[in-house]
Amino acid sequence: MSEKNNLTHSNNRSSFTSKIGFVLAAAGSAVGLGNLWRFPYCAAKYGGGMFLLLYIVLAVTFGFSLMVAEIAIGRKTRLSAIGAFDKLKAEYSFVGVLASLVPIIITPYYCVIGGWVLKFLWSYITMPANQVAATNTAGLTLFEQLITSPTEPIVWFLLFLGVTILVIAIGVEKGIENSSKILMPILVVLIAIVAIYSCTLPGAVDGIKYYLKPNMKDLSVKTVLSAMTQLFYSLSLAMGIMITYGSYMKKDINIETSVWQIEIFDTVIAFLAGLAIIPAVFACGSPENLKAGPSLMFIILPQLFATMKAGRLVAIIFFFLVFFAALTSSISLYETCVSIIQDKFKQKRTPSIVFTFFICIIIGLLASLGYGPLAMITFLGMQFLDLFDFLSNSVLMPIVAFFTCIFVGYVIKPKAVIDEVETNGVKFKLKKLFTIVIKYVAPILIVIILVASILQAFGKISM
Ligand code: PFF
Repeated sequence: MSEKNNLTHSNNRSSFTSKIGFVLAAAGSAVGLGNLWRFPYCAAKYGGGMFLLLYIVLAVTFGFSLMVAEIAIGRKTRLSAIGAFDKLKAEYSFVGVLASLVPIIITPYYCVIGGWVLKFLWSYITMPANQVAATNTAGLTLFEQLITSPTEPIVWFLLFLGVTILVIAIGVEKGIENSSKILMPILVVLIAIVAIYSCTLPGAVDGIKYYLKPNMKDLSVKTVLSAMTQLFYSLSLAMGIMITYGSYMKKDINIETSVWQIEIFDTVIAFLAGLAIIPAVFACGSPENLKAGPSLMFIILPQLFATMKAGRLVAIIFFFLVFFAALTSSISLYETCVSIIQDKFKQKRTPSIVFTFFICIIIGLLASLGYGPLAMITFLGMQFLDLFDFLSNSVLMPIVAFFTCIFVGYVIKPKAVIDEVETNGVKFKLKKLFTIVIKYVAPILIVIILVASILQAFGKISM
């Protein structure tokens, strides 16, 4: 959701008009494909219950502390990432620059996945549910046919990107976001219904166990890394976004309470998405799909909808709502790229929109074709889309998070953030936890995980 909305213009910087306005805008940015598409496949791939447990533990410690820090830095400086670090300590402006690279990498491939969602929405509008779930004569699922085609993923990607830019260019973000305030709750109810349905299917019990019961054998550096990167992605952390949101936040809004509200909302949606998809993997009798990765949602949900009464209607509504959630996030991502280019290169808005478009086209085309015609090109065993995801989430975001912790813990000191949270006599209840996490726990954990994952990527250790 773009921060320009829900804002009133005061003397020098706009602010969100209401307390709930801030939480809704930040939650709107947070809730998107990360919750519905990425969380379930990561949970499925990295050990179900153990992943979920680690995710929740990291959310209440690490995610909480980092989000408080980012929002406070933004509110204190009234600037977005690059400017904020620069103002507080010029030597650390590189953290803002690194953070800004993240949305520039994510936006294009986010639109590619948004395109996949559109393709499925269109398929359910034009075909019965059992046909969407069927394989073709060559034994390929609809999803496999889509991603291996030399043209189709590009068409859907361009369509999704086009809608995003159109909304921005004709300035109707506000209308889209206001509608999303009605559509998001409907999405939550619908996912809950699908989750309940999925859990009651024969054979689903094993999936529920897999998803909810942590198993010690799944505890590995890889699981911790994937839970941590998923947390950053889902909460829009370590990419400068929350600093920008904070810069528009009024002084009388309680940062700590807002952070809890955003985290709970975001986590509940991700949890329900996992509960809709993972038990269905077992009910469909294909546990090998647990390792499917980015394709999981697009393989399992069609099978689920094919078994459901009124499955086609449910699927149409479901994919429409996912499309909407993805659109509000892609608008927010695109707007972020535009303002980074505007600020950094001192450009006007229109050239910045056009420049962002070209970046999206280049990265988006590679991501679109990476599973099809360009499948022979891999880096460390990864196709383009996985590579962009890896670079932004597993490399850049942990580095940004690490330096943010060092910056807050040792340069401006936790007290600077605590004072900002406690403006207007508010009490920062968990300031001890915040200080310990920011100064010690988070930086040490990130270094261990980063080193281990780099060693593993180069085959030096196995985890
Ligand atoms: N957090 C979003 C998701 O989970 O889908 C992704 C995202 C949206 C990141 C908007 C950044 C952003 F500005």
